[in-house]
Amino acid sequence: MISVGVIGCGHWGPNHIRVFSQLANSTCLMCADIDDVRLKSIKAQFPSVDAVKDYRAILANPAIDAVCIAAPTKYHFQFTREALAAGKHVLCEKPLAMTHEECVTLKAAAEKSGRMLMVGHVFLFNSGIRWMREYIASGEMGRIYYAHSERTNLGPFRYDVNALWDLAPHDIAIFDYLLGESAVSASARGLKCLGNSLEDLSFATLDYPDGKLVNVHVSWADPRKVRQITLVGEKKMIVWDDLDALGAIRVYDKSVERTSKYYESYGEFQLLSREGSITIPKINLAEPLKAQGQYFIDCIEKGIQPELADAQKGDQVVRTLAAVQRSMDQNGTLVKV
Ligand SMILES: NC(=O)c1ccc[n+]([C@@H]2O[C@H](COP(=O)([O-])OP(=O)(O)OC[C@H]3O[C@@H](n4cnc5c(N)ncnc54)[C@H](O)[C@@H]3O)[C@@H](O)[C@H]2O)c1
Repeated sequence: MISVGVIGCGHWGPNHIRVFSQLANSTCLMCADIDDVRLKSIKAQFPSVDAVKDYRAILANPAIDAVCIAAPTKYHFQFTREALAAGKHVLCEKPLAMTHEECVTLKAAAEKSGRMLMVGHVFLFNSGIRWMREYIASGEMGRIYYAHSERTNLGPFRYDVNALWDLAPHDIAIFDYLLGESAVSASARGLKCLGNSLEDLSFATLDYPDGKLVNVHVSWADPRKVRQITLVGEKKMIVWDDLDALGAIRVYDKSVERTSKYYESYGEFQLLSREGSITIPKINLAEPLKAQGQYFIDCIEKGIQPELADAQKGDQVVRTLAAVQRSMDQNGTLVKV
């Protein structure tokens, strides 16, 4: 039985408390939050969990094996470093930190302490995303030409990081996972339209190896809640809509074929669209956060690194975010990751 302590009990932390309380091989012993109202609410929901104000009480407790950090992003680096130094395994919410250098420090700290360090890239545990990765790997789609994602809603707003750092870690982690590689350069524009000092939206275009183009649109100032990804391949196309109750994935048996016939000028050829059926694959629904928690606990028990979302992967996402931010700061200049 792995004993977990959760730091940060706002909107998201209670979900981790629930998951680690429910899993067969873990228990949630403690949680911490500086806000008394949140602590009261947690005590009412989870009476057996010791809810404390100072997170250091969790780090000092020898009965705690692992710490889950669901505090605001600006604390991720500090809390993760302190938890590793206290000999705890760590599951830190996304993004792992705010700079590449911080991620490198955390990775080294985890190696030195011999503890697991995992990032909460929860969409890597979404069954639809996993299905798409297998489908791409099977070669059914052929070469991937380009992809785009939309992650929008009206709120929730944050005051410690902008919409890019809040929302895009999900999409960047997803594309790195689906494509099996990470972006090499980025150009992006953002806008501070709600009167804060932070960007409320970002349009980021990422270059992946071999000319693959990926566009990521995130916003917390949009009328509709949208969670969509479109993948355009040589042989097939896929649309993933996480909010579609009929099934998250549509596989379009559509493609564009080129005739071998040459026209008047050299190199011209005819493009023909091929329209096939649209299928909705049956995918087992499992709660991604629970699958993520299970993976973390299993890695601790087996003594294996959480390769799916380890510090290296978390660092790559942070490097891409930093490049997108630099490009936004320079009004869209192409920036190397
Ligand atoms: N994976 C996901 O899908 C997902 C979804 C939501 C949030 N998150 C991540 O989870 C983290 C928390 O997000 P949230 O929406 O719950 O934010 P939130 O602001 O609702 O909650 C953060 C909580 O941390 C507490 N806190 C602040 N300083 C603290 C300290 N020093 N010690 C202990 N507690 C402290 C706050 O009082 C608050 O209750 C963020 O990093 C966010 O990116 C991830």
